[in-house]
Amino acid sequence: MKALVATEYATLDRISVTDHPTPSPGPGQVLVKVEAAALNPLDLALITGAMKDMFPVEHPLVIGMDVAGTVAKLGEGVTEYALGDPVLAFVGQGGTVAEYTVATVADRFAKRPPGLAAAQAAAIPESGLTAMCLLRAVGLAAGESLLVVGATGGIGLYAVQVASSLGAQVIATATAEDAEYMRSLGAAGTVDYKAADVVAETLRLVPGGVDVVLDLVNRGEGLVGSARAARPGGRLVSPLFGPDDLGREVSGVYIGGFTSEPGDLEKLAARAAEGTLRVEIGASYPLADAARAVADFAGKHIRGKVVVTVP
Ligand SMILES: NC(=O)c1ccc[n+]([C@@H]2O[C@H](COP(=O)([O-])OP(=O)(O)OC[C@H]3O[C@@H](n4cnc5c(N)ncnc54)[C@H](OP(=O)(O)O)[C@@H]3O)[C@@H](O)[C@H]2O)c1
Repeated sequence: MKALVATEYATLDRISVTDHPTPSPGPGQVLVKVEAAALNPLDLALITGAMKDMFPVEHPLVIGMDVAGTVAKLGEGVTEYALGDPVLAFVGQGGTVAEYTVATVADRFAKRPPGLAAAQAAAIPESGLTAMCLLRAVGLAAGESLLVVGATGGIGLYAVQVASSLGAQVIATATAEDAEYMRSLGAAGTVDYKAADVVAETLRLVPGGVDVVLDLVNRGEGLVGSARAARPGGRLVSPLFGPDDLGREVSGVYIGGFTSEPGDLEKLAARAAEGTLRVEIGASYPLADAARAVADFAGKHIRGKVVVTVP
């Protein structure tokens, strides 16, 4: 089969679409005929080896963790799926930017509802599940105010929508070009991270500070800065690690890997299928151009998700 492969830790321009053995499903797994895959920042780190101490990989590495396609082969013990079933999944071991991939039938594997196109479905798992995990971890409640830093990317796409549908007042970082897009996702206000000081602008919009800051961009001591947009005693949540002491009794909630609850992926897929959750695909590439998809994802400003489609 054809797959997007890294043969060693290297710069992003060293990956290519090449022949690779078709994988076989083990017990509890299925082989998925890929229709679409989506990219995430972790894919970039696995290619370059930037996180090799935490996430070492074996080479050759097939890139990608998000997938939508159809079940092509059943592994031992899989009874709840049939050949041809449309599915979507987060594949933790990678390998989705390819003609076929193997996925484990568990919480992060779901049937794709009718009406949800493969490209849209592939754009949901990692970003959508992480958004739900972050909002759950910080206990966001109806009526609270929330600043989302990094709102224009993958996690932000879902975090802004889920938070506003919970009844939170969402302030999202966005340039003037993306402001209307963010409002269409449910943001009540936007702060231009390229033209203004995000903290000062947020405090102007919400005097006294927001109840919760969701920061998808800064890490470490950088989070102390964005915590200043929270009210004294407020909360900050991040998928990247930060200090325990954020000052002014703002508490920090950090998730290492994201956790999901049974049914999370089904719920996100159902909402996308019924049209109550928008899936913004900022750029889409055929498998033959998958290396360019990775380069653009790393180097260009793209709204929402980057998807690779497999003919
Ligand atoms: N712990 C976990 O389990 C977990 C899971 C998933 C992701 N993550 C991490 O979470 C982070 C976000 O993931 P993602 O998928 O949402 O990434 P993404 O799709 O790359 O989105 C990041 C967004 O942040 C914007 N941005 C960059 N600098 C900014 C700034 N100074 N102020 C405001 N916005 C800024 C980017 O816009 P520009 O194009 O203008 O730069 C982009 O729209 C990544 O670091 C990822 O590795 C962790």
